[in-house]
Amino acid sequence: MAVVMSILAQNISNEVCIIDANEKLVNGESKDVQQGSLYLRDAVIIGNTDYKASEDSAVCIITAGERQKKGQTRLDLLKTNVKIITQIVPPLVKYSPETILIIVSNPCDILAHVAWKTSQLPLERVFASGTHLDTARFRYFIAKRLGVSASSVQGYVIGEHGDSSVPVWSAVSVGGIRFRDLSKCAGAEGDTDQWHEVHNQVVKAAYEVIAGKGYTNWAIGLTVASLVSMILDNKNEVATVSTLAREREGIENDVFLSLPVVIGANGVTSFIKLQLSGLEQELLCKSAETLNKAMQSLKE
Ligand code: LAC
Repeated sequence: MAVVMSILAQNISNEVCIIDANEKLVNGESKDVQQGSLYLRDAVIIGNTDYKASEDSAVCIITAGERQKKGQTRLDLLKTNVKIITQIVPPLVKYSPETILIIVSNPCDILAHVAWKTSQLPLERVFASGTHLDTARFRYFIAKRLGVSASSVQGYVIGEHGDSSVPVWSAVSVGGIRFRDLSKCAGAEGDTDQWHEVHNQVVKAAYEVIAGKGYTNWAIGLTVASLVSMILDNKNEVATVSTLAREREGIENDVFLSLPVVIGANGVTSFIKLQLSGLEQELLCKSAETLNKAMQSLKE
């Protein structure tokens, strides 16, 4: 619902269909939003349990599945959510064969890989929201420390959307100035300013929100809505989303993880080549290995 409201309130699309297995819930949620449509430019809001209602959707977003409980990691949800994803994808794609599929359910990297294989859609049309949210958190925390706006901070978090994510300090810039020129060891060994704490904040962010309210929704809702706008408006913006990473940036595993890519009307259209430091490269390969191990555990 946070994705739905972020899309509608920002006029990213004026037609949204919500599909849920729980009929009472989907009716309640869709009616509640419909009754506010006077303030949403008369947007069309449909709620249904039948996938047919979503026919010919330009973008399909999957958020269904078990969510992290206190103390659980995203990877702990794997087995349950793989089952759910493999049930949802075929009927969605049957009614919207030209769609672009965005996986948000966790662990989103592995679920996007499974969804891609299940859907038989072209690779560029299936990806996970991945570290687009971690990147937003990273830019926000750096910005807060410096007293500037998050939009004035450029930078990426790549790898798993989860505990093994990798901050790319070598690519951070503030107002167009390379951060490393201002703070030589930022995020690396010998960093007396403790910038690495910012990445700890990013990793802990969801856990803290979950400890407070039981789940996260608003930041991820806004993050996913921004991806939808890149597609519907063919923005060709650079964002870190999760796609097949084998043979990119030194990754050998057959895994989906986040790297900076260009997103437009056809989905992921190209990759931005990073210039990672030795440490960043090592951490990225470790993140790929973590995801690979989790993926292999599905076969056991
Ligand atoms: C989060 C969930 C979406 O990080 O994984 O908020």
